[in-house]
Amino acid sequence: MSTNAKPNFKLRKMLFASVIALICVTLVYFVYQQNKAWAVPEEVKKLKNPLQPSESNLSAARELFKENCVECHGDAGKGDGPEAMMHDPPPADLTDAGHMNTLTDGHIFYQISEGRKPMPSFKKRLTQDQRWQLVLLVRSLSQPATPSDMKPSAPASSKPDANTKPVPSSKK
Ligand code: HEC
Repeated sequence: MSTNAKPNFKLRKMLFASVIALICVTLVYFVYQQNKAWAVPEEVKKLKNPLQPSESNLSAARELFKENCVECHGDAGKGDGPEAMMHDPPPADLTDAGHMNTLTDGHIFYQISEGRKPMPSFKKRLTQDQRWQLVLLVRSLSQPATPSDMKPSAPASSKPDANTKPVPSSKK
């Protein structure tokens, strides 16, 4: 009997040690995740948006943004959505041109795809094309002065966004 007890005890000790180790690794991982900049792989940063900022892509993106992003990032992308207060860190201000201009298309695509707590990952919820459409929209949020074709959706103060109707995309 006593011969059995020893290895058993050893096994338990090992198990205990590995559980502690696992907890430590998890903790370190989370702390690390919180503090580091988005670790975007170099080859992803270099990706170019395969889509054009056409009106059909942008209006599709506006719908996607309304459904998936506005709750946190707000109508105009300022990071002031109705749920924004609940999150730490707070949702990013996507209209901050100084910051957003330092990001490549691939970088933004990666951020939308992977998310980062508390922002969810969208790679399973949205297709690649939808995520690239959102990259176009995110870009437009920080560049409101684009001359001819597009206007950013109405300023959040005047009217929420009753005026952004989906444009029927009959012609492709
Ligand atoms: C649950 C709230 C939430 C939702 C929903 C959400 N985000 Fe975010 N988003 C965040 C937070 C919080 C951050 C900042 C994360 C950080 O810095 O660690 C962020 C950061 C970003 C960034 C990075 C900006 C930067 O400063 O580098 C982009 C781009 C972005 N979000 C786009 C989107 C898009 C597009 C959607 C919709 C498809 C979306 N987000 C949905 C909360 C959210």
